[in-house]
Amino acid sequence: MFDTVAIVGATGAVGRIILQLLEQRNFEANNFRFLASKRSAGTTLTFQGKEYTIEELTHDAFAGCDLVIASTPDDTAAEYLPSAVKAGATVIDESGYWRMNDDVALVVPEINPEAALNAKGIIASPNCSTTQMVVALKALYDVSPVKRVIVSTYQATSGAGVQGNEDLIEGSKARLAGEDYEYKVFQHPIAFNAIPQIGSRKHEGYTSEEMKMVYETRKILGDPNIQVNPTCVRIPVWNCHSESITVETESPITPEQAREAFAAFPGIEVIDDLDASQYPMPSNCTESDAVYVGRIRRDLSHPNGLTFWCVSDNLRKGAATNAVQIAELLSKHRQPAS
Ligand code: A2P
Repeated sequence: MFDTVAIVGATGAVGRIILQLLEQRNFEANNFRFLASKRSAGTTLTFQGKEYTIEELTHDAFAGCDLVIASTPDDTAAEYLPSAVKAGATVIDESGYWRMNDDVALVVPEINPEAALNAKGIIASPNCSTTQMVVALKALYDVSPVKRVIVSTYQATSGAGVQGNEDLIEGSKARLAGEDYEYKVFQHPIAFNAIPQIGSRKHEGYTSEEMKMVYETRKILGDPNIQVNPTCVRIPVWNCHSESITVETESPITPEQAREAFAAFPGIEVIDDLDASQYPMPSNCTESDAVYVGRIRRDLSHPNGLTFWCVSDNLRKGAATNAVQIAELLSKHRQPAS
């Protein structure tokens, strides 16, 4: 068990779910502290039945903390989290800034818990679109190594923060009323549309979101040879990312074998009955911690190919749940203070 746990970004979309999960899962620590920007400092929140004042995030704010769970923009994580490490804290970071740093562990507890347990300093939680995919890939990888992945994502507006959802709602209302709406986060109208760009242009015409899926998948699965070809698309859905995934494995995996492997893997739920029109959708997967898999079928174009559909709550397993699971793992293995 940790002595003093600080939640940084406690007022954000993911930060608020982290608080809910820590409460629901009875995460124990002697002290909790809650930090956010100057804008929120001095306001209060209730956690485990107690009222707390939100503190301003500063370089000196981490004194006495032994665990920090942070969910902030990348530049904030870049600037402040080294100060938390210097103050002696273990840091779990949701941002994208530290993930590919060689000294930082990138962890999904169902896949590489040892990386968290051996880590010194910052432990990163992967990007939401990567997390749900690697959980599903790992279930198959344990049957036969995955060599190649072709993935198309259908990503919810909640992935773009509170303002992303506001753009969806206000933009939709305006469109239905025949009025103009000035989008705050999306570069095109998201209402009644699909935008095939998430993030900035990076490598050979792929976007930053797509390249995260390439690099993070290799790091988490510990296989630098996995080939990943992603297309990331923002769609007008409030919450939950969906992914169409086709894998090529070293030896063929039948749909029946895959269904069994998915069902046996921790954190995966299978909903797969096309005849009964049963499959995962954002509407039946939201506010759940699981990764859902369905539409499992043979790849008609390749003997070693398998295709499936994967949906998960991007704010839960894609972010808050994964961070809280890492915290629970660390807490469980922590030596009691002497
Ligand atoms: P605040 O609410 O005070 O702005 P989201 O992306 O959902 O808006 O959440 C981002 C979280 O990160 C919020 O808790 C936000 O605090 C916090 N945050 C953003 N910028 C800073 C900053 N410069 N310093 C500290 N916290 C920040």
